[in-house]
Amino acid sequence: MSLSVLFATSEAYPLMKTGGLADVSGALPAALTELGVDVRLVLPRYGDLALRDEQTTEHVARIDVLGQPVDILQTSMPDSGVRVYLVDHPTFSARQGNPYMGPDGNSWHDNPDRFALFARAAVALATGDVVPEWQPDVVHANDWQTGLIPALLHEAEKPHTVFTLHNLAYQGVFDRSTFERLGLPWSLWRADGLEYWGNMSFIKGGIVFADRITTVSPTYAREIQTPEFGYGLEGLLRHRKDALVGILNGIGSDWDPAHDAALVTPYTAKDLSGKAENKAALQKELGLPIRAEVPLIVHVGRLIEQKGTDLVIQALSMLGQRDVQFACLGSGEGRFEQALRARAEADPERIAVRIGYDEGLAHRLEGGGDAFIMPSRFEPCGLNQLYSLKYGTVPIVHSVGGLADTVTPATPANLRDGKATGVVMNHLDVNAILWAFDQFTELFNRPERLQAVRQQAMSQRYDWDASARSYLDLYREISTR
Ligand code: ADP
Ligand code: GLC
Repeated sequence: MSLSVLFATSEAYPLMKTGGLADVSGALPAALTELGVDVRLVLPRYGDLALRDEQTTEHVARIDVLGQPVDILQTSMPDSGVRVYLVDHPTFSARQGNPYMGPDGNSWHDNPDRFALFARAAVALATGDVVPEWQPDVVHANDWQTGLIPALLHEAEKPHTVFTLHNLAYQGVFDRSTFERLGLPWSLWRADGLEYWGNMSFIKGGIVFADRITTVSPTYAREIQTPEFGYGLEGLLRHRKDALVGILNGIGSDWDPAHDAALVTPYTAKDLSGKAENKAALQKELGLPIRAEVPLIVHVGRLIEQKGTDLVIQALSMLGQRDVQFACLGSGEGRFEQALRARAEADPERIAVRIGYDEGLAHRLEGGGDAFIMPSRFEPCGLNQLYSLKYGTVPIVHSVGGLADTVTPATPANLRDGKATGVVMNHLDVNAILWAFDQFTELFNRPERLQAVRQQAMSQRYDWDASARSYLDLYREISTR
């Protein structure tokens, strides 16, 4: 019998994206559908949802959530056709831009109310109260925004619940009066419930009550059981370690250098000549000197401490005589955006910076870059190193989380055995970044070696099919209990 799954998420590419969660929420349900699972998404109906003209929305039902009318709409994902339920309420639909914060960069003050309402609407869908002919076997919730779903469902016999941690640093912690305002059952106010040092924690709802907890790489699954990476939840995670598993993310089909419309010339592992053309085009676009013989190191991502942006900025002011180019695209903390802009102004022959969000440029940076740096302090999975492997753009990474699980260091032994796929920093500080730049430059100056590393990188397979099978096994395991 086919399994049915309600996939609850606060973002899903291409409808709404701020980071990797959106990529996963776009691609995993599509891959599960290919495996015969009846999976449907539930997502808030944000004001800025990127619905295409041909995407119609249909009204499914009006429900009552603690006295407030909430409309449930439905549409389908543009490419995969996966059905999407949209939770329509003014606290979502009347606001534009980022789903979590206002134009001033501060979180919306009513985020707990918005995401509690979203959770209750998802629970209504999950228990057959909205679409009576469809009751899922499993609800798969993601990150703190959906953490209340497993908590609210834990006494129900069905559906079973899976909770995925994409990033433990964001926990959705609010004060006790918030808990009272949200009208949650008092039975949840306990240390082995939502209570967290006198506050309430949304993410604990998922960690305490879900039948299974997953995170997005095996190494991160281990790391979060330690004080260094557990953000205060390591004890609870150790307590639930038998229910916790790490499943690596995959790459969506839109990331493929052989068929990437954003590139000036597509290329493959067999014929890498197109990469040089993409590099020249990228240098031109960014106003960098068009030079084939200089290593071009690129970066795309959120400019925040997690990603080591501060260290990159420091390293860029210590380049000395190094003959390298650095190009980056991102947005995030204002102080980092300003510092990066200032570096580019001071050193325009070597550094180019674009602040903002730009899918096309992200693809062109992968296509034209020689190396891609991700000096993350922690990284649950990370997607750009996977794209970089696929594009033969040598990943330079710190050996944590998913970065450690997916990049094989260019040690002499690995180079000799043809296993190396990237440059790996075993500890992280400014000097490590400069060391990594030098390591890469050395590799870059040995074209045969560089080609072998690129080809080995491009032969790695991180497609969604394998990950989707692991999730399917998990769903089956809990729903046949
Ligand atoms: P995280 O989810 O922590 O931000 P991931 O590596 O999992 O990190 O995913 C980030 C995703 O967001 C990638 O698909 C990346 O290309 C994309 N991305 C991040 N910043 C930008 C940007 N400024 N422009 C375009 N894409 C971006
Ligand atoms: C989070 C993590 C990132 C992961 C993504 C998708 O945003 O920071 O490492 O790849 O979620 O799972």
